Amino acid sequence: MKFLFRSLLILLSIIPLILAAQDYYKILGLDKSASPKDIKRAYRTLSKKWHPDKNPDNPAASDKFREVAEAYETLSDDEQRKIYDRYGAEGLKKHQQGGQGGGHHDPFDLFSRFFGGGGHFHGGQRRGPNMELNMPISLHDFYTGGQREFQIEKQQICEHCEGSGSADGHTETCAECSGRGVKLVKHMLAPGIFQQMQTICNKCNGQGHVISKPCKICGGAKVKKDTVTLKLDLEKGTPNHAQMVFENEGDESPDWVAGDVLINVIQMEATGEVDPTNDEEVKHGKTDGMFFRRKGNDLYWKEVLGLREALLGDWTRNLTHLDGHVVKLGKKKGITVQPNFVERIKGEGMPIYQKDGEFGDLVVEYEVILPDLMDSGMRKDLQEVFDKWHKKKGEKLVKDEL
Ligand SMILES: *[C@@H]1O[C@H](CO)[C@@H](O)[C@H](O)[C@H]1NC(C)=O
Ligand SMILES: [Zn+2]
Ligand SMILES: [Zn+2]
Repeated sequence: MKFLFRSLLILLSIIPLILAAQDYYKILGLDKSASPKDIKRAYRTLSKKWHPDKNPDNPAASDKFREVAEAYETLSDDEQRKIYDRYGAEGLKKHQQGGQGGGHHDPFDLFSRFFGGGGHFHGGQRRGPNMELNMPISLHDFYTGGQREFQIEKQQICEHCEGSGSADGHTETCAECSGRGVKLVKHMLAPGIFQQMQTICNKCNGQGHVISKPCKICGGAKVKKDTVTLKLDLEKGTPNHAQMVFENEGDESPDWVAGDVLINVIQMEATGEVDPTNDEEVKHGKTDGMFFRRKGNDLYWKEVLGLREALLGDWTRNLTHLDGHVVKLGKKKGITVQPNFVERIKGEGMPIYQKDGEFGDLVVEYEVILPDLMDSGMRKDLQEVFDKWHKKKGEKLVKDEL
């Protein structure tokens, strides 16, 4: 037993040596200019990705999980990061051996500092509540896809006391309930008739222990409200009302595994408010009331033609698409377009979700606007044209044609 313990110690001291040679920035997918926020975000994402609970069939995952924790611990500490930046992993190691703290914590402890749940996803623990939010997204963004950062306010485990609630890390057994968390209370129902009831201890809130020196930051609550930044990866052609899941990003508590943040992406009404600070949206807002409308993978567009264009052809339009490329519409001389004519242009609709390079159709609906004959003074001229055709072909035929 003693031998085993000793060899375990040796092993444990060797592991950091091997890992110390790693590039901490690379492990977190960052470069040297990364902000503390970037480092935190990278840790949140990667620690969940490589958590052994999530990768039961991948033994390499727990090494990755450990590496990510180590990289985070080093880079999130200003002083350690400075030393690491200047002298590398070896320099940092020497510095730590010089007695300036250092060494690495259990990666599961670090994980639980972020997400609660005792460092694990599974194991029948209580789950915190999910958080569900609607996020308005422009049709333009559904078309082009892209990343978007957003912030949520949520309950986070207090970093100062690491979720203990205590300033010095000590807790004491609750004197009121002797650590049981519950008390027996006697109620008198009638003279001489008592009922005994078990209630949750109000002194310790059922915890069984109390904190004599509460943490200055969270006041003993173990958690505090904070704002975190999340990054939404919107894929091209994502369906309207799709739900994106950010696992374990909900309210944190030492008492539960954090729930999920659920983001419903909802297309902003095309006819609604256009964000005047966003050039793209103004451009596609088409203030004359023209908008692309989406139906599944297809886009709909209404194009207006004048009487002459509709009757005689010989017109072109440069339709600016959602990402700025131009779709040419037009008819040659002599080609008539009937009112409400519908043209289907293959491949100019929405990108099809998760099918790279495939697109739906663009459906163009033509509307013909008649000139105001009174204002334009065209009435007399047109009358002559029609009269001439009446004589030439007979009234019935002309009526059918025009
Ligand atoms: C459309 O764009 C082309 C250049 O690509 C230009 O020659 C043409 O005049 C434009 N047509 C219209 C109707 O604006
Ligand atoms: Zn605290
Ligand atoms: Zn108690």
